[in-house]
Amino acid sequence: MEQVKVWLNEKDIPRQWYNLGADLPTPMLPPLGPDGKPIGPEMLAPVFPMNLIEQEVSTERWIDIPEEILNILYRWRPAPLRRAVFLEKFLDTPAKIYYKDESTSPPGSHKPNTSVPQAWYNKQFGIEKLTTETGAGQWGSALAFACQLIGLKCKVYMVRISFDQKPFRKIMMQTWGANCIASPSDQTNAGRKILAETPDTPGSLGIAISEAIEEAVTDTSGKTRYSLGSVLNHVMLHQTIIGLEAKKQMKMIGAGTPDVIIGCAGGGSNFAGLSFPYVADKINGADIRIIPVEPTACPTMTRAPFAYDFGDTACTTPLLAMHTLGHAFVPPPIHAGGLRYHGMAPMVCQAIIEGLMEPRAYHQLASYEAAVTWARTEGFIPAPETSQALAAVIDEAKKAKEEGKEKVILFNYSGHGLMDLLGYDAYLSGKLTDYELPEEELQKYTKELEKLPKAEVRKTGKW
Ligand SMILES: Cc1ncc(COP(=O)(O)O)c(C=O)c1O
Repeated sequence: MEQVKVWLNEKDIPRQWYNLGADLPTPMLPPLGPDGKPIGPEMLAPVFPMNLIEQEVSTERWIDIPEEILNILYRWRPAPLRRAVFLEKFLDTPAKIYYKDESTSPPGSHKPNTSVPQAWYNKQFGIEKLTTETGAGQWGSALAFACQLIGLKCKVYMVRISFDQKPFRKIMMQTWGANCIASPSDQTNAGRKILAETPDTPGSLGIAISEAIEEAVTDTSGKTRYSLGSVLNHVMLHQTIIGLEAKKQMKMIGAGTPDVIIGCAGGGSNFAGLSFPYVADKINGADIRIIPVEPTACPTMTRAPFAYDFGDTACTTPLLAMHTLGHAFVPPPIHAGGLRYHGMAPMVCQAIIEGLMEPRAYHQLASYEAAVTWARTEGFIPAPETSQALAAVIDEAKKAKEEGKEKVILFNYSGHGLMDLLGYDAYLSGKLTDYELPEEELQKYTKELEKLPKAEVRKTGKW
C-alpha cells in the first residue's frame, strides 16, 4: 500500500503566520478613503478591532499565533496532507497529486482558520458581538462556531439564494448559537433600499456585506464589530497555516517542492493560505506554477479590470485596488456560492499582476464532472467551490500524462460538499447549465469603475 495520509503531531502545528506583504516584489496600492486619499488605520476602527487592523497593515514577515488560538485550532489541526492515488490510477497519470484536507474542520472547510483568530482578537478588544455575511454558508457557520467557542454573539446575513438553496447551513449556524437571516433583509437601510428596488433579487455578497457593516457601525454601544471571511490581508495571513503545514508534510515524505499549486478562489483566502508560503519560494527562484481557479460565471481574475472599487454594494467600505467586476455585480445563481464575490484579495491581485500566478476559469459543468470523478475514485464528496480546483487538477494531471512528466501537483481541498448535495442533484439529473458572463454584462458593471480613482498597474517584470 502506498502512503496516502501524512499526519503531523500536535506539537508540529505552525506557531507563526506568514505575511506575503513583507516579500511582494512590488508593494500593494493602499486602500483609499472617500476623498480618494490613502486611509489611516483609525478609519477602519468602527468596523474592526485595532489588534486586527494592526495585522491588516503589518509589514512583518512572521506574526506569532497566540497560544490560546492554537488551543482551539488543534481540535482539527494540523490537517492531514493526502495523496490522491486512486484518482492518479484512474487518470493513468505519472503525476503525483497531493492535497491539504481542509474539510476536516468542524464546519467542514478552511474558514475557521481565520474565524477563530478573528473572534479571539475581537474578544480581547472587549467586543461582544460580531456581524458578517455569508454566501454558501461555509463562512457564516465557521464564524458561528468560533463565536460560540470564544463567547461572542454572532449575526449572519446570508445571501438569499443560498439561504433558500442551503437550509442545512443555516441550521448549523443556529446549532452554534448564531442568528442567521436572509439578505437583503428589512433590518438595515441597505437591505430595505435594495428590496424596494428589486424585491426578487437573489442577493449578493456585496449586499450582505453592506448590511453586516451597517449593523456593526450603527451599534451605539461600540461593542459590535464586523468580520470578513476572505479578501483582506489579515484573512490571507491567518490562512497561511495551511501552506506552512503542507510544506512540513511534503518535506516529511520527501515529496519536494510542488511543480504546480492549485486552489479555487472566491475572495482568495484558501488559495492564498496554501500558496503564499510557496509564492515566497517562487520569489526566491523556485520554479512553481501557481494557479488560482474561478468560475466562468464570475470571472474576476481572468476578465475583470484591476481597479479601485468598494468591497460592498452600498459603497461603505474603503476603496481597494483589486481585480473587480464592479461593486454592483449580481452574480448568476451558480452552485459554487462561495465563488460569487465581485472582487479578489488585493494581495492575490498584486501577485497576479507580478506574474507570480496564472489564473484560470472553469465552467460549472466541468467542475461538477471533476467533482463526480473525484467522488467515484477518492470517495470524498467535495464542496462545489473545491470542485473548481479539481477541474484544474485533473487537467494538469492529464497534461503531465501527455508530456510524460512525473509532476508533483499540490492543491487545497477547501471543503466537503455534504451540505451542498442539491447542486449534485441538479447536475446528476441534467438540470445544470454552463454560464459564461456575457461581455455586455461585464462592461455594464465595470463602467461604474470609471468614476473611481485609477489603480496603477505596478510590477517588476521579472516573472
Ligand atoms: C469550501 C469553500 N472553498 C472556497 C471558498 C472560497 O473562498 P476563498 O476564496 O476565500 O477561499 C469558499 C467560500 O465560501 C468555500 O466555502
